[in-house]
Amino acid sequence: MRSLIHSFAMVSVLAWSVGAELTFVATARQGGREVDRSDIKFSAIPPRQHRRHGPPYTNVNATSHADVNTRRDRDNVSYSGNWCGASQHSSTSEPISNVFAYFTAPDLTLRTETPAPQFAAAWVGIDGANCRKTLLQAGVTTIVNSNGGQSASAWWEWYPEAAYTINNLPVKPGDWLSVNITATTPTTAKIVISNVQRGYMMVLTITNGPKLCREDAEWIVEDFYDAKGQVAFASFSDVWFQEAQATTVNGKKIGIDGAAMVHLQDPDGDVVCTPWKYDNSIFVVSSH
Ligand SMILES: *[C@@H]1O[C@H](CO)[C@@H](O)[C@H](O)[C@H]1NC(C)=O
Ligand SMILES: *[C@@H]1O[C@H](CO)[C@@H](O)[C@H](O)[C@H]1NC(C)=O
Ligand SMILES: *[C@@H]1O[C@H](CO)[C@@H](O)[C@H](O)[C@H]1NC(C)=O
Repeated sequence: MRSLIHSFAMVSVLAWSVGAELTFVATARQGGREVDRSDIKFSAIPPRQHRRHGPPYTNVNATSHADVNTRRDRDNVSYSGNWCGASQHSSTSEPISNVFAYFTAPDLTLRTETPAPQFAAAWVGIDGANCRKTLLQAGVTTIVNSNGGQSASAWWEWYPEAAYTINNLPVKPGDWLSVNITATTPTTAKIVISNVQRGYMMVLTITNGPKLCREDAEWIVEDFYDAKGQVAFASFSDVWFQEAQATTVNGKKIGIDGAAMVHLQDPDGDVVCTPWKYDNSIFVVSSH
């Protein structure tokens, strides 16, 4: 069947971007129908101010947590000051071309010891671990206010370029989303982000992105940074990642077996978030 595709193009003119400008085109479908282009809206958060879902800071105090290592002795445990989840490496002869997962939008509760608002983001991405200069990612951020009220929003970002909130993508805490990111070349990509429960699917075609290394695939819950520093990390119901998989340019499928299972440590060294592996494609991220 031939469908009429309304496309929406947006060019970000970034005075501080060197080289070619990142450009993207978006189309969306809801309940099987094409979404009108006037209903597709993004808010750009410029690089210097954006909620930075950037490369991880790895905490040097990890050795004090040998107890976690023992419990999950079949996993490769590592620690970070902002990431919690799985980070899978691939050799340079097998560049990663695709990363996929279903996951739930974080459903938050306030931590009593920290001020509100509090946050958690969940996303899927390529690079950012070994290749720290760039990271292509898409996911959802949830905020909980002092009265316990929450709101969630979907976004995508090709770090260090601007982040884009997808204003019209309906999402509530606990919803199942899927993110499918394909790096068609190191500087071009296709992102399909869907709210599986609400029947919404957006396809983004991006060109002139910052050059990817395509070395790592990640499935992460993050205590990210905004312009003022690292945000207060909320407590949350378990965030499940399912059918987590990466594919290399040669068609090799990689799951999370052998991935670094990244635990999030707060500045005091306490582990506040742990990924628990279930099998090669399923893990759950728990806050504590
Ligand atoms: C992800 O997108 C790619 C490119 O469009 C497609 O080939 C692949 O089948 C998709 N993966 C899943 C799990 O839907
Ligand atoms: C841990 O990581 C190393 C290096 O990436 C890998 O060789 C090894 O197989 C991994 N271990 C497990 C248990 O997955
Ligand atoms: C972690 O290491 C830093 C730098 O050495 C130190 O200042 C901090 O107190 C350490 N935290 C813990 C919990 O050991």
